[in-house]
Amino acid sequence: MLVLGIESTCDETAAAIVKDGKEIISNVISSQIDLHREFGGVVPELACRRHIDIMIPVIQETLENAKLELKDIDLFAVSKGPGLIGPLLIGLNTAKSLAFSLNKPLIGINHIEAHLYAAIMSYEKPISFPALGVVLSGGHTTLVLIKSLGNYQLIGETVDDAVGEAFDKVARILHLPYPGGPEIEALALKGDAKKYAFKAGVVKKNPYSFSFSGLKTAVLYAVRGQDNAHSKEKPTLQVACDISASFQLAAFTGIVEKTLIAASEFKCSQIIFGGGVTNNQFLRKLFTSTNPNLEYVWPALGLSLDNAAMVAGLAYHTFLAKGCGDSLNLEAETSIPF
Ligand code: KG4
Ligand code: ZN
Repeated sequence: MLVLGIESTCDETAAAIVKDGKEIISNVISSQIDLHREFGGVVPELACRRHIDIMIPVIQETLENAKLELKDIDLFAVSKGPGLIGPLLIGLNTAKSLAFSLNKPLIGINHIEAHLYAAIMSYEKPISFPALGVVLSGGHTTLVLIKSLGNYQLIGETVDDAVGEAFDKVARILHLPYPGGPEIEALALKGDAKKYAFKAGVVKKNPYSFSFSGLKTAVLYAVRGQDNAHSKEKPTLQVACDISASFQLAAFTGIVEKTLIAASEFKCSQIIFGGGVTNNQFLRKLFTSTNPNLEYVWPALGLSLDNAAMVAGLAYHTFLAKGCGDSLNLEAETSIPF
């Protein structure tokens, strides 16, 4: 079965064709980073306009790369949420139009679930359920028990900023470009992680919940002073490196601890990762050095950031499980509870 997936939840316009949920035939991603960089984050209105301009060319390129035509596609899939409403509507309406005009089924996909499937689809070995899912992205910090594909139990999530969002905000404080994650990871390599005693937040109600807004404020005070006296000054390179290293360690220590405790409580031997932050090599090493006995399933290169291959791949399984497509009345959902 050939599935054409569309992804437009935030600032990537992407399309992909995946065969039988696993084999990526074509995968095109058009990033809008250049557009949003000068604003230090995603500007929804600009994102919408770029999605409109680029959506059809991206789909055309996806088909050309695969040497296929629209009539060869068996199923159309789209991220229906969570994400920014304008960008979501553009992807959703494109997918609906294609499905309707070609008389083919449509499947709407939860973008977060697709991030987890990105790691599963590129993993050679079988997944032994229950597995623990960890989504670390610009919009989400989520721990979820994967009982089987399509059957999830939310264990914990952030009560304020997502971890990727915290990286982006700290990068801004340090006068680094957007997106902040890769910049901070690079500077941290030359920094002293013990220089600043930063700590991520603890959430009393749920030990598996996350909080990063206090950590971000601690970085703000360290750079600008409690009274904002140094608000205009750019920190020196060494200060930026030390803050990056200390912040990164603080942000990841809690994530690693909570994940490993959850893995033990819910008897999971495999941890499945999704989202742009899981590109971070320091994070990957921190997990393996803290507990080398678990199996860590990371998304393959090119599948950790937003992409449509994960959407098309997951849609194959969703369609088979449902036995039919979704209604063309399918709505965009800016937030979807797990
Ligand atoms: O999954 P993604 O492409 O988009 C969302 O669904 O949010 O993730 C983007 C996020 C950004 O916040 C970016 O700063 C972060 O992932 N990121 C990283 C790294 N690469 C990307 N964070 C930490 N270290 C990295 N190497
Ligand atoms: Zn994402």
